[in-house]
Amino acid sequence: MSDCSAVEVICAKRDGRALTPAEIAWFIEGYTAGAIPDEQASALLMAIYFREMQSDELATWTQAMIDSGERLDLSGLDRPTVDKHSTGGVGDKVSLVLAPLLAACGAAVPQLSGRGLGHTGGTLDKLEAIAGWRAALSNAEILSQLADVGAVICAAGAGLAPADRRIYALRDVTGTVPSIPLIASSIMSKKIAEGTGALALDVKVGSGAFMKTHAAARMLAEAMVSLGEAHGVRTAALLTRMDTVLGLTAGNALEVRESVETLAGGGPADLVEVTLALAREMVELAGLDADPAEVLATGAAMDSWRAMIAAQGGDPDADLPQARVVETINAPADGALGHLDALAVGIAAWRLGAGRARKEDPVSPTAGVVCRAAEGDAVRAGEPLLELHTDDESLLPGALAALEGGFEIVAEAGPKKPLVLDRVTAGGRA
Ligand code: URA
Repeated sequence: MSDCSAVEVICAKRDGRALTPAEIAWFIEGYTAGAIPDEQASALLMAIYFREMQSDELATWTQAMIDSGERLDLSGLDRPTVDKHSTGGVGDKVSLVLAPLLAACGAAVPQLSGRGLGHTGGTLDKLEAIAGWRAALSNAEILSQLADVGAVICAAGAGLAPADRRIYALRDVTGTVPSIPLIASSIMSKKIAEGTGALALDVKVGSGAFMKTHAAARMLAEAMVSLGEAHGVRTAALLTRMDTVLGLTAGNALEVRESVETLAGGGPADLVEVTLALAREMVELAGLDADPAEVLATGAAMDSWRAMIAAQGGDPDADLPQARVVETINAPADGALGHLDALAVGIAAWRLGAGRARKEDPVSPTAGVVCRAAEGDAVRAGEPLLELHTDDESLLPGALAALEGGFEIVAEAGPKKPLVLDRVTAGGRA
């Protein structure tokens, strides 16, 4: 379509009209090819941010993003394929446990992942804390690892949904990231293009998540589930709590260590609970007959983890790097940890070096925060509450400032809050 006018498309969306399939295809193709400039794309994204999209319009937009690149063909594998995607949180290392666990349950897990930005960590950044581990794989390597090991976590190649790569980078600098249609199309275009047959979504809700309210998270989950199903990907979503850290660590090597503890049968109860809830969804979506809790207990998931890491050049037995400096924050009073804010911990970990401000920045494998208590735990005045890990002492003041007001000691712990808040499945499926 060469006869669309960018200004007319922007004005149409600004005034609340749904874009036509021709306008959408013209925009996505033109922006991906560099024919539409950033300022006009920014204006359209901002108009979408305010005016949103109708469901047909969103489906067409997502299809155009998928069509901007290749779609992997995993149909030759002899196991059902199933993946999981999280909308991002603090301490969210679930993927590291879930991919090998599902492989041990009999699935092939093609987890094509991204890097962290801002206060949320990225799965690839975490795994790169392991000596020798390699994120970049060719399509042939992905396929052979899925056949041999049953799980791969690697970087999504440049060929998958290239429109999203450009649009996401622009959203990041134009204040248009937290938009339900833009998040839904971004996530689902990549997951559909990756070729998985089924997908479980972990839609995080709370201070540490993009979606701060249950209602917004549910709308996002519903949009993604219907996009997946419309493209033949069996999709279900859990809404899970992200107003406090998941597990007890936020930071790359720190989270790998905690994941390995979980694969070994230990690990914090909240991490185990969210992982198993998602694993059960994945087993069901993939049509497998396995109990993930039993499989975890046998140690088979740990065997799959070791094989997955080794297949990508990593040494599963290598010591993980440790920070040079550890600063401790002690509990200011006796009582219980009433609240530990996810966003405060995420920003502290980020400022210590665990995350990046711009996508080309390096991350520190060792930096992060260790929580010595979780919400609800009893604490005693003067005993360690949080540890700040970094290789650069000059980063400590910024992290300490982020944590000011980020936790509360109360006389008595309140009732335990549920972790899994809601479930969204396609109409007609239980
Ligand atoms: N993750 C994505 O891949 N895209 C978004 O828009 C938000 C989170």
